[in-house]
Amino acid sequence: MRITEHPLLSFQRKRVIHFTFNGGPLEAYEGETIAAALHAAGIKVLSRSITYSRPRGFFCAIGKCASCMMNVNGVPNVKTCVTLVEEGMVVESQHKGVLKPFTGPKKSHISHMKTQVAVIGAGPAGLNAAVTAHAYGASVLVIDENPHAGGQLVKQTHKFFGSSRERAGTRGTEIAKILYREAESFVMLQAAVVGHYNDRGHRLVLVKDGTLAELEAEKVIVATGASENMLLFENNDLPGVYGAGAVQTLMNVYGIVPGNSVLMVGAGNVGLIVSYQLLQAGVKVVGVVEALPRIGGYHVHAAKVRRCGVPIYTSTSILKALGEEYVTGAVTVSLDKDWNHIPGTERKFDVDTICLAVGLSPSIEFFCQAGCRIAHIPELGGNTPVHSPAMETTVKGMYAAGDAAGIGEANTAMMEGKIAALSCVKALGLSTLETEKESKESYEELRLLRSGSFGERARQGKERVFAIMEELHE
Ligand code: FES
Repeated sequence: MRITEHPLLSFQRKRVIHFTFNGGPLEAYEGETIAAALHAAGIKVLSRSITYSRPRGFFCAIGKCASCMMNVNGVPNVKTCVTLVEEGMVVESQHKGVLKPFTGPKKSHISHMKTQVAVIGAGPAGLNAAVTAHAYGASVLVIDENPHAGGQLVKQTHKFFGSSRERAGTRGTEIAKILYREAESFVMLQAAVVGHYNDRGHRLVLVKDGTLAELEAEKVIVATGASENMLLFENNDLPGVYGAGAVQTLMNVYGIVPGNSVLMVGAGNVGLIVSYQLLQAGVKVVGVVEALPRIGGYHVHAAKVRRCGVPIYTSTSILKALGEEYVTGAVTVSLDKDWNHIPGTERKFDVDTICLAVGLSPSIEFFCQAGCRIAHIPELGGNTPVHSPAMETTVKGMYAAGDAAGIGEANTAMMEGKIAALSCVKALGLSTLETEKESKESYEELRLLRSGSFGERARQGKERVFAIMEELHE
């Protein structure tokens, strides 16, 4: 299951780690998450569901869906997709929601920290925001629960289109490294923000290594990204049904293939790019199905996939996943112009993986907890925090950036991060002559990125969000 040869990536595996899974010995490499290491060992079923004891595997691989939770070293409900495997670790499945008593190490120390700008999320928006605010002299702390900084960039091996200012022509993996190098000294990884109080400015509650910390911040930039959408079909909860981002994480970060043969659902840019990356990793892609009557992604990506012999079926949807414990096949069906299934058009594929690339929704939980006004904006992926063009939300001193502020792409996320940071810099009184100039250029750059037909939906969505914000201020 581990990739040994890849046309673009080389995987420098570190020392061998020994751990146990349900009492049996297993090996992993240092730097792998528990879920990745188990997958590499061919273990897809991590736990069982509460009511029907259905098998559960991972889905998102970035700590957002909770389907990978296991008991680790006596601590229940550990998200194994963002927890690194360690020597001697004891990993156990959880069954039917029964949690064993907590027997992990007890820690009661609570520390206090202060910063001018707290950034939640170390993806492209968060890192760019942090680097910008720091450049103007603000103290900054970035918090992210993943073991790697860079968000979705760490797995994007394709070259970026778009803005030359935001590194078009560079691979996402490289952009992540560049941004992290600039921000490393003020990034805290494997830490989660679990609470927010705004009785004295912004007080955040963090959990890091099992201990609590209180962080006082004058400004907060929330760049929590997005979660992958699920699709309704029979057996959609079987291990082997993975989000496209999870598949990218497994392959491009850990060098582990998700399976031997894959059906891709969704012919937008993500579905097409991940299909090509699967082929590069030596995985068979039996086809790409797309419910719309046309391909949604760039034709350059579709052409690359087709040249490799992968058929793209439009007006087609997935009907069901086959299998008892994990995916052993998939059945698709053609759709008529009213989205109804056309009887007799069912087609069976022998696959062990179904990859869903059917869109993203903004991760808005933190905004909800903080009391930000939320609006349903379909053009931005659904529920979205209401914010101004300066990226400030309805909670004073709290800003949104990137996919958390409405689904876009990495270039616009980085630009929104920069705009949010410049807004913080101004509000903190740290502006220089350069701030105004950089601010103007950033607004213009963002406008250009969203011009043209591919930016149209996001542009319309943002206009609606800004209009709601304006109404609230009248
Ligand atoms: S939270 Fe671990 S797979 Fe989603």
